[in-house]
Amino acid sequence: MTTLPFPNDFLWGAATSAYQIEGHPLADGAGPSIWHRFVHQPGRIAHDDTGDLACDHYHRFAEDVALMADLGLGAYRFSIAWGRVLPEGRGAVNIKGLDFYRRLTDALLERGIQPMITLYHWDLPAALHDRGGWLNPDSPRWFADYARLLFDALDDRVPLWVTLNEPWVVSVLGYLEGELAPGHQDWFETPRVAHHLLLAHAEAVAAYRASGRHRIGLAVNLEPQHPASSSPDDQAAAARRDAFINRWFLDPLLLGVYPSELESLFGPAWPGFADADLKRIQCATDFIGVNYYSRGLVRAAPNHPPLNAVRISPTYAPRTSMDWEIYPQGLTDTLLWLKDRYGNPPLYITENGAAFDDPSPCNGEVSDPERVDYLRTHLCAAHAAITQGIDLRGYFAWSLLDNFEWAQGYAKRFGLVQVDPLSQKRTLKTSARFYREVIGGNGVAP
Ligand code: NOJ
Repeated sequence: MTTLPFPNDFLWGAATSAYQIEGHPLADGAGPSIWHRFVHQPGRIAHDDTGDLACDHYHRFAEDVALMADLGLGAYRFSIAWGRVLPEGRGAVNIKGLDFYRRLTDALLERGIQPMITLYHWDLPAALHDRGGWLNPDSPRWFADYARLLFDALDDRVPLWVTLNEPWVVSVLGYLEGELAPGHQDWFETPRVAHHLLLAHAEAVAAYRASGRHRIGLAVNLEPQHPASSSPDDQAAAARRDAFINRWFLDPLLLGVYPSELESLFGPAWPGFADADLKRIQCATDFIGVNYYSRGLVRAAPNHPPLNAVRISPTYAPRTSMDWEIYPQGLTDTLLWLKDRYGNPPLYITENGAAFDDPSPCNGEVSDPERVDYLRTHLCAAHAAITQGIDLRGYFAWSLLDNFEWAQGYAKRFGLVQVDPLSQKRTLKTSARFYREVIGGNGVAP
């Protein structure tokens, strides 16, 4: 079978985030995060799971780096827990926390694995939340100060930085729908949080321009929005959802304006934003990180403000255990859309993967043919976009390990590697072996 070749210097990686894998969130002087607080409120998380132990990566990182080397990874995307480094979110530095990330970075480099660091993957220090968190107009400055500290500590060894992971999810699931920490449900808060996140990204990029030597970008969740039927109402609903999800952050960042639809959607809850802010937000980001999982199939729903649209789950289509439709073509379409709309920016797929109900290990391996298929078809979809001229520089599978899937707890498993929650034993899945072959051959066989 012919293999579809990827570019020579293509980066093959896997991704995780701090709260989802590290465990021991208060170890060695770390300050609690909003996630630590949230999971300890009964009923917030499926089965009341918490990240207290997670994958115990805080103690097992050396073993995990060895696993990455065994898979042949060229890069590893992980996040920093802000509160490990700055227990109060600002001010006094906790050297032990910073040392953990220094040791992790060095272990990666010793194995020839390039670190990609995400500065914010949702675990805001609780002390900052008590000062208003992302609603506080000072929050972009807090973030830039924290970012500068990490640049000074690690930029000599870290070639790729991501400021924020999925600011849309932070704003909408954290402040509008309340499914994620801090669990607010407030239309008036949501656009303000989003705006401060954009400013935080811009401030951190500005700080990086002053001292950084490598590249810095933003990771966004994107999914094409398709109308569930040909009715004009469903078509309009899909267009609204496209502005809401796909363009809310990228339009201001890359074009200097918010999508006009947002103002009408939010009505009185949409504040006027200063032109100077928008000028600041439109900053020279080195790359866009794309987190792609599925598409949205959209139906008009007049009783669901502010969007008056809902995403439906097509029962006729193959789906993952998250109930997300498996739709590889959407990845090609998303990458081409980025090229056309925003002038072909450099891209990384910073997350792509799937949750399935994997079986227990058998003869030392976990058989997950559906995940192999998911990865194969999505890699082919990425390849198709490369042949059409997009500037894709790397791919990070989500996730290296089965881990704490936020409100769903440990029930949803995205790992290439299974983690037994009791023994913490790591077992490769078939998908890990598949990915190792892809990396080794720098290509995918369709
Ligand atoms: C995106 C998030 O960045 C990550 O934390 C999450 O686990 C995956 N999607 C899967 O839902």
